[in-house]
Amino acid sequence: MSQDVPQAELDELEAQFQARIDAEEKIEPKDWMPEAYRKNLVRQISQHAHSEVIGMQPEGNWITRAPTLHRKCILLAKVQDEGGHGLYLYSATETLGTSREELVQALHDGVAKYASIFNYPALTWADIGAIGWLVDGAAIVNQVSLQRTSYGPYSRGMIRICKEESFHQRQGYHIMMTLMQGSEEQRAMAQDALDRFWWPSMMMFGPHDAESAHSARSMKWKIKRQSNDELRQKFVDQSVAQAEEIGLKIPDPELKWNEERGHYDFGEIDWEEFSRVVSGNGPCNRQRLQHHIRVHEEGQWVRDAIAAHEEKKRQRAGKAAA
Ligand code: 3HC
Repeated sequence: MSQDVPQAELDELEAQFQARIDAEEKIEPKDWMPEAYRKNLVRQISQHAHSEVIGMQPEGNWITRAPTLHRKCILLAKVQDEGGHGLYLYSATETLGTSREELVQALHDGVAKYASIFNYPALTWADIGAIGWLVDGAAIVNQVSLQRTSYGPYSRGMIRICKEESFHQRQGYHIMMTLMQGSEEQRAMAQDALDRFWWPSMMMFGPHDAESAHSARSMKWKIKRQSNDELRQKFVDQSVAQAEEIGLKIPDPELKWNEERGHYDFGEIDWEEFSRVVSGNGPCNRQRLQHHIRVHEEGQWVRDAIAAHEEKKRQRAGKAAA
C-alpha cells in the first residue's frame, strides 16, 4: 500500500499519524497507519493471543486433580476465561488484515512466540496457585497499562480482559494463602512453587529496555505505555509485600528495599535461560506446541461445519435477494 505513495506524501501521512498518537487519539482499523505500526501490532497482539491459549494447558492439566469441587469449578472458569481472552485478541489482530489461519500457522511453524512462562511444567497444586498469583499478577501489571494502548480494538480488548484477570490473580493468591496456613508439607509445597515460578514470571516483562528490539518504537506509537523495566519493577514491589503477608520468601538473595528509590532492588534475571526457553528449548516447549497442533487438527471438523453453515446461510440470503 505505502510503496506506491510518493515519499513526500508518505512523510505527511506519518506526521499526521504521529500527531494523532501524541494527541492521545485512538487509531481504528479503517484509519491510515504506517505499515510498521500495523506489523508491530499484529506481532504483539497475536503473540499475546497465543500466550492466552497456550497458557490454558498447564492449568488445564490440573482441572481433574483439583483438591476440592470448589477449586475445580474456579479453575474451570479461569481456563475458560483464558480461551475467551485469546479469542478477543485474535479478533483484534484480524482487524489488521490477517486471518486466524495465518496466525495459528505462524504459531505452529514456530515463527510466532508466546510467553515463555507457559513452557514450564505445573508439577504440584501449589503451582496452580503460583501461576494465578504471579503469572496473572504479572499479566495484570502489563495489561492494565495496555488498556491505554493507541490501537482501539486492542485497548478495548484489554479493558474487558482486565476485569477477569483480577479474579484470576486473587484465586491463585488464595490457594497460596490456604497452603501457607496448612501443614508443613503444604507450606513447603507453596514455597517450592514460588521458587520455581518467580524468575520465569519476571521474564514475562521481556528483556531490559536497553536490549528491547521493539520498545522504542512501541513507546513512540503508544502501543506500549510503560517500559519493560518499569512494569517489572511494579510487579516486584507489589509481589514482595504479598509474599511477606503470607510468610513466603521471594527466592532472590539480592532483594532489598531501597529507601532512596522507593522501590525494591533485585537480582539479575538469567537471560541465558530466557533465550533458551524463548527459542524453543524450555522444559515443555515441544509438548505445548504438539498439543496445540493435535487439538487444532482434531477440531477441523468444527471449523468445516461452521463454514458449511455460513455458506448455506449466504446461499439462502442470495436466493431471497434474487
Ligand atoms: N516470552 C516470549 N517471548 C518474549 C518474552 C517472553 N516472556 N518477552 C519478550 N519476548 C520476545 C518479544 O516477543 C520479541 O520477540 P519478537 O520480535 O519475535 O516478537 C523479543 O522477545 C524482544 O522483546 P521486546 O521487549 O523487544 O518485545 P515487545 O516490545 O513485544 O515486549 C512484551 C515484550 C512485554 C511481552 C510485549 O510483547 C507485551 O506487552 N505483550 C502483551 C502482553 C503479553 O503478551 N503477555 C503474555 C502473557 S499473557 C498471560 O499471561 C495471560 C494470563 O491470563 C495468564
